[in-house]
Amino acid sequence: MDCQKIARSGQAPEGVVRRFFAGEVEVAVSRSDGEVHATSNHCSHLDCLLSSGKVTDEGLLCSCHGSVFDYTSGEPLCPPANRPITVFPVREEEGHIWVDVDDELAEAAMRRRAVGAPQAGRRRGLIG
Ligand code: FES
Repeated sequence: MDCQKIARSGQAPEGVVRRFFAGEVEVAVSRSDGEVHATSNHCSHLDCLLSSGKVTDEGLLCSCHGSVFDYTSGEPLCPPANRPITVFPVREEEGHIWVDVDDELAEAAMRRRAVGAPQAGRRRGLIG
C-alpha cells in the first residue's frame, strides 16, 4: 500500500478525532494545535475505537478506560494501556490529508485477532 489521500483537510477540524479508511485499514485522524495526526483506530488496551475518543493537550484520549497516547510516538502516557498504538506518516497537501500505510504498519494497526482466528493481514492478503 502506498501513500493514500484519505480525507479533505476540512474533515479533520481542530480538536476533533474522526475515523477514515486507507483501504481496509481504519485510521484515527485528529488535529491538535493545527497539526494533523494519524494513528490506528484501535486502542492497544482492549481495542476500543479511538475515533470515539477525545483530542487533549497531552495526546489522544481513549474514551473506554482513559489511556492517553502521544500523537507522535503512539506511546501510552497513562494506564491501563501499556503498549503503543500505531502511528502513520501523515501530511497535508492541497487541502487533503495523505497517509502512508505500508503493509507492516497496516498489520500492526489491525484489531487484535480472536484466539484461533487467522492472522488479520494474512486474511486480507497483506502478508504471505
Ligand atoms: S480500550 Fe482504550 S484504555 Fe481501555
